[in-house]
Amino acid sequence: MLRRLYHDQPATFAFTDANLAWAEGQIKKFPEGRQASAIIPLLWRAQEQEGWLTRPAIEYVAQMLDMAYMRALEVASFYFMFQLQPVGSIAHVQVCGTLSCMICGAEDLIGVCKDKIADKAHALSADGKFSWEEVECLGSCANAPMALIGKDYYEDLTAERLAEIIDELAAGKVPVPGPQNGRFAAEPKKGLTTLKEFATGDAKYNASAQAAVDIGDTVKRIDGTEVPLLTPWVKAAKKPAAPKASKPPKEPKPSADAPADESGVTKQEAQAASKAKPVSKSNPEPAETVAQTTLTAPEGGKGDDLKQITGVGPKMEGQLNALGIWHYDQIAQWTAADIAEVDAEIKARGRITRDDWVGQAAALAKKSS
Ligand code: FES
Repeated sequence: MLRRLYHDQPATFAFTDANLAWAEGQIKKFPEGRQASAIIPLLWRAQEQEGWLTRPAIEYVAQMLDMAYMRALEVASFYFMFQLQPVGSIAHVQVCGTLSCMICGAEDLIGVCKDKIADKAHALSADGKFSWEEVECLGSCANAPMALIGKDYYEDLTAERLAEIIDELAAGKVPVPGPQNGRFAAEPKKGLTTLKEFATGDAKYNASAQAAVDIGDTVKRIDGTEVPLLTPWVKAAKKPAAPKASKPPKEPKPSADAPADESGVTKQEAQAASKAKPVSKSNPEPAETVAQTTLTAPEGGKGDDLKQITGVGPKMEGQLNALGIWHYDQIAQWTAADIAEVDAEIKARGRITRDDWVGQAAALAKKSS
């Protein structure tokens, strides 16, 4: 199946505070330079937050992990677990249509989905509560036919039972997942014939079905409030590098033509001369550096939300802040040399020019002044 981005995309995406804290914890699991390894959990959490995986979400995660957008899109479009279009508000039903399930009645299950949800896969039901699709083998072949609904497998299904499950979910009930024909797990229908010493005693449900029963839900999306938030590695993580040396907060501009001293040199000229890099033979002009527009702390104690600039995600915002860049008007002043310097520093790979950060920053500065 051709997996493409949905035609109607939201303008922006940002993790909630809880999800952002979780995501940053996940990234810290990986050694420096290997942060891209966190892409699947981060994309998954973005999907859990929104219900489906939007283009802004994919770009946001790519920025967090310092990856090219295309690399993140390749991952998102490869795995069927990522939904690239809106799904039902209650559940998306994934019916296995591979061999074992197909010969055991998958087509009947698909018929139920067409009848009760929507005629076509990936379309929303009339009330927007459900959607469905046919997927490849989900690894539960011994319990064919089966479907993945929300977080859980519903196995040994019949068309009638699947129709009931959809009705129960629509009514806000929590149908017990697992085998639907009385089997405990994947043992023979008439009971164990071997390995009887592993019989399950008094347990009513198998482990995963029991977990769903204990949680009391099978379709709830993860929202970052789950406890415990297990990120024990975070405490041992390296502290971010201290901000680089930068110039003190800006002073009011003096009159351009007011002499600083009896020599007639203006204050501006004196400041520029003292800050300029030494003039070299290969570069006879005094060099401009981005350090001239950096600060030791945000003015007024609060920086601008640099993430408003397309192409700047939370990670890059942190990197810019570490360089002493907190405000739109600082970025709006960047020269080509500044852009090259910052691009190399934060490994933006040309993104600053491509996304026109300077123009965006100028517009944002104007808007916020
Ligand atoms: S064939 Fe359906 S789960 Fe494997």
